[in-house]
Amino acid sequence: MFIVSTRQMLLNAQKDKYAVPAFNIHNLETIKVVIEAANELKSPVILAATPGTAKFAGRDYLQSIVEVAARNIKVPVAFHLDHHTEFNQIRKSIDLGCKSVMIDASAYAFEENIKLVKEVVDYAHRFDVTVEAELGKLVGQEDDLLVDENNSQLTNPKLAELFVQRTGIDSLAVAIGTVHGLYKSEPKLDYDRLKEIRKLVDIPLVLHGASGVPKESIKKSVELGICKVNIATELKIPFSNAIKRYFKENPDANDPRKYLTPAKEAMKKVVVNKILMCQSNNRA
Ligand code: 13P
Repeated sequence: MFIVSTRQMLLNAQKDKYAVPAFNIHNLETIKVVIEAANELKSPVILAATPGTAKFAGRDYLQSIVEVAARNIKVPVAFHLDHHTEFNQIRKSIDLGCKSVMIDASAYAFEENIKLVKEVVDYAHRFDVTVEAELGKLVGQEDDLLVDENNSQLTNPKLAELFVQRTGIDSLAVAIGTVHGLYKSEPKLDYDRLKEIRKLVDIPLVLHGASGVPKESIKKSVELGICKVNIATELKIPFSNAIKRYFKENPDANDPRKYLTPAKEAMKKVVVNKILMCQSNNRA
């Protein structure tokens, strides 16, 4: 197939009550792991790249690798910019053919957030590119984006309604108690808030910070309206641990094709579990 935007993908998920997993990828290996798992489980899938990843791997390289990957499989694949904060970077990717972007202006006050998001929506929609934006702030760290506990903010449902109306975004990332990165204790999600948001907002809702969130909590969130689930940290850990283990057992190893193979296998197991958790298998 070819790369699709997240519009129809998320609307389908919303209608049939499952979520499309969005996996943060970093390079050729992690892209191939996600693509292979999604293809085997017949799941639509989103490959997400932060500004840090675009800088590390190259915006054009990423776009091209994902295009080739999508061409070789039978499930719909979207390539999505995650947590981008600058219009110029988003424009660069749209010009390269990217069809789905997140503008994260959640660090700004409400009116400024709307202004920047609207600017991106106006540009993106001219090219049929879908736009996700965030209202509220998650605790934790995602690349260079760091929010401490004093600055976190759960999404206000009434403001969310206004935000969606005024920006024209295609999906909304909500803050309902998840965090970016690892949890210090069992995450407590604010389902009443999610219900209230769902009542007032009819576009697809996105859950960030899904690493470490129990399966049952994801299931309940999906029942209440979440249709995209973002996962990063839980993929990086097994990938890195497998490399560390490989070198411990083979201190003289030097072939990336050898030491990256167990890393890919370890990451793939998590990707498979997350697809099953989102119930997106057999939906492609
Ligand atoms: P985690 O690293 O907590 O899984 O968060 C991922 C995320 O929300 C990416 O946008």
